[in-house]
Amino acid sequence: MRLIWLLWIVSFSLYAAVAVQVGDKFKDSGKCKACHSHIVKQWDNSWHAKSHYGNDEYFQKTIDYVARKDNRKSLNTIKIECATCHNPRIAVTSTSAEYEAIAALKLDKDSAATKALQSDTISEGINCVVCHNIDQIHDELPADKRGINRVTWMKSGTMIGPFADAKSPYHHVEQRPFMDTNPNQLCFVCHANDTSEEGHRFIDMQSEFKSGSKACVDCHMGPRKEGVASTLPIANGQPRKRLIREHGFVGGHTESMWQNALNVDVRKNSNTLDIVLSNPQPHALPSGFGSREILIEAQYFNKGKSVKKEVLSLTAHYLSKRGKPTVPHLAAKTIQSISIPAQGMRAFSLPIAAGADQAVITVSYRLVNDEIRGILDLKDPIWSKKMVIKKISLKF
Ligand code: HEC
Ligand code: HEC
Ligand code: HEC
Ligand code: HEC
Ligand code: HEC
Repeated sequence: MRLIWLLWIVSFSLYAAVAVQVGDKFKDSGKCKACHSHIVKQWDNSWHAKSHYGNDEYFQKTIDYVARKDNRKSLNTIKIECATCHNPRIAVTSTSAEYEAIAALKLDKDSAATKALQSDTISEGINCVVCHNIDQIHDELPADKRGINRVTWMKSGTMIGPFADAKSPYHHVEQRPFMDTNPNQLCFVCHANDTSEEGHRFIDMQSEFKSGSKACVDCHMGPRKEGVASTLPIANGQPRKRLIREHGFVGGHTESMWQNALNVDVRKNSNTLDIVLSNPQPHALPSGFGSREILIEAQYFNKGKSVKKEVLSLTAHYLSKRGKPTVPHLAAKTIQSISIPAQGMRAFSLPIAAGADQAVITVSYRLVNDEIRGILDLKDPIWSKKMVIKKISLKF
């Protein structure tokens, strides 16, 4: 009996998320600047650097909204749940019923949870020591174990990377296949299985992904190019030349990335416009997070004068367990979800305005649809900005 208990405890401790403290020498990206300044600069402009509560309005307001609507859980508990992927180096990985009782009375100021959430270790979001301090990724675990619950950390001070022969005077190095030949495994630690408080899986980039020739890093970190991994002069008084990628992780928030992300074909039928969107990418668009949107707008003209506009919104809508429109993280079900499947296509049709002799069709992308921008009262113009994918003019 005792042996069984012991085995149970041993396997449990292997699988439960274990927070490993990051030493002061490695905690923030500022510590890497002396030798990797170019990489720090690229990462600093990325949305990985903004994944923290304090730096992303959409994330912050979603957390506040979820905590307001969910009266079983405190704000801090929700923050810690989301930290699983958004701030995985957090020192506290779950809270207990006792904690909820203390938090409800606002007596949790000095608790480990409050301190962990205020620590500057996590204020950089997904920083260097999130990706480069992972020892193993546990794909044998169930699909709902993500982020911090899917990895075991290296001891502080060992950086994993793509090179087998790197040497650094500042830190130890080790190579891992998920930094080199199998990088999707690293991205899927977090970019998979987005699940609501109600257990509803609203996006799963892993199951929709069509694995083929290209990996996530090929498009979102760019191809490998000649450069240097470190600017330290380690090769005959010069920095060592290496094949490296960009650390910008450019994606949905970058307008230029959307240009031609989809192919658009428009034909005039008798009194409709037939529009076919095809998606050459290996994942659906929109995807990534719920409530993203692709807009098809047709502006009709008669002798140069605008006469009518038709709009189609391709997005997802969610209902809460009480049947009200809600944010993805409180969804009990998805009532509508329109996206263009990976390497697939979809056809739409719009009525042509009477008397029109010309149509201008614009296909664009928005980070947040009208419904969710309204519910959360998002202010920053980035959430409503239309990023143009393609514009086509057609004379009848
Ligand atoms: C989201 C995960 C992620 C984060 C965050 C991240 N990296 Fe990387 N890094 C990678 C991957 C993946 C590679 C391997 C790229 C390749 O295929 O060559 C890499 C490669 C590197 C390399 C080797 C040179 C190269 O570009 O291949 C260095 C050095 C490096 N990273 C430093 C940093 C530093 C410093 C930071 C923080 C400012 C950082 N990384 C943040 C994922 C990450
Ligand atoms: C004093 C200089 C220095 C500092 C500071 C430094 N590094 Fe490095 N790092 C190096 C050198 C040198 C290499 C090896 C470069 C090569 O072989 O091309 C390296 C290599 C790496 C690699 C690639 C390892 C591999 O095996 O592919 C990663 C990842 C990395 N560093 C991350 C970091 C991070 C994260 C920090 C900040 C916490 C940091 N480094 C701070 C000098 C430094
Ligand atoms: C530790 C979890 C984690 C890992 C590992 C991770 N990501 Fe992310 N990634 C996130 C989160 C969280 C965001 C959203 C941040 C935000 O918008 O505040 C994000 C955002 C992004 C975006 C969107 C950027 C934009 O402008 O819209 C891209 C692209 C991306 N990640 C690519 C990658 C790639 C490629 C990898 C693998 C090399 C990777 N990520 C690994 C958690 C992760
Ligand atoms: C062949 C290139 C390619 C590959 C491979 C690829 N993507 Fe993308 N991805 C794109 C393009 C193009 C877009 C649309 C413009 C943009 O956001 O960059 C996009 C968009 C995204 C978005 C924003 C989606 C939205 O609708 O808001 C995320 C998140 C993302 N990709 C993550 C990933 C992850 C994770 C992987 C690997 C599993 C991956 N991508 C593989 C090309 C690619
Ligand atoms: C399984 C890992 C994971 C967990 C857990 C997680 N997220 Fe995310 N989240 C991501 C990834 C990956 C992205 C980036 C997707 C993209 O860019 O399209 C993201 C993006 C977001 C965005 C969009 C941010 C932007 O700038 O557009 C919001 C809002 C968000 N998450 C809210 C939350 C909330 C609230 C929680 C906790 C209740 C949470 N997330 C928990 C992985 C996760």
